[in-house]
Amino acid sequence: MRPQVGLGFPAGERERAAEILYDSLAGVYRPVFGARPKAVRAIAKHLRGDRTITARLEGRVVGVCGISYGKGRFLDLGLWDLFRDFSLAAFRVMLVGSVFEERAAPGELVVESLAVVPELRGQGIGGLLLEAAGAWAKREGLSRVRLYVAFDNQRALRFYLRHHFVVRRFQPLPFPWSRLVGLAGAYELVREL
Ligand SMILES: CC(C)(COP(=O)(O)OP(=O)(O)OC[C@H]1O[C@@H](n2cnc3c(N)ncnc32)[C@H](O)[C@@H]1OP(=O)(O)O)[C@@H](O)C(=O)NCCC(=O)NCCS
Repeated sequence: MRPQVGLGFPAGERERAAEILYDSLAGVYRPVFGARPKAVRAIAKHLRGDRTITARLEGRVVGVCGISYGKGRFLDLGLWDLFRDFSLAAFRVMLVGSVFEERAAPGELVVESLAVVPELRGQGIGGLLLEAAGAWAKREGLSRVRLYVAFDNQRALRFYLRHHFVVRRFQPLPFPWSRLVGLAGAYELVREL
């Protein structure tokens, strides 16, 4: 069955989108945002419907693509939200945010997170979400899509290369943050539209 792909969440599915992101990207989300229940609630609260593309099957979210462009980011977190909702984890969120430039420059759209539920991977849903992000960028008059992929995520890297992205550079995460977050660094990829 082909999923519907579009901006925003069906009613009641916001938390499910947060769970898919957290569980699929646990390697990064857990060290950055902390333990699951609290992190999922906080992520759900701050997800922006106009910066989140979802894939839905029978009204349920099965894939999520968080984008940012212009002034809006898919996780709409101010400094005050960070400390209130993530307390001690806030400094990790800020650190990772400062190393990886996920704010979009003029003319570009950044794919900040992309995840599909494990039981439906390998069926083209991730590809549909990524193409929807590119189509949305074009519609908004943008000329580039940019994203980071973790150094050790070779399958995802291959997936992006197949979707016409090219590696622009490798961005290391300096010690001791690399150990804290468990990530040596990430490739920055771009696709010109
Ligand atoms: C990467 C991801 C979004 C792709 O979604 P998808 O619906 O499986 O993608 P498609 O079916 O369109 O394409 C399949 C390709 O995705 C890539 N892929 C990456 N991780 C995969 C996984 N765990 N299972 C299946 N495919 C995966 C592979 O390149 C795969 O092609 P291959 O089977 O030839 O290796 C999805 O696998 C996922 O959520 N992975 C975990 C989270 C993640 O790594 N996100 C990317 C972070 S930058």
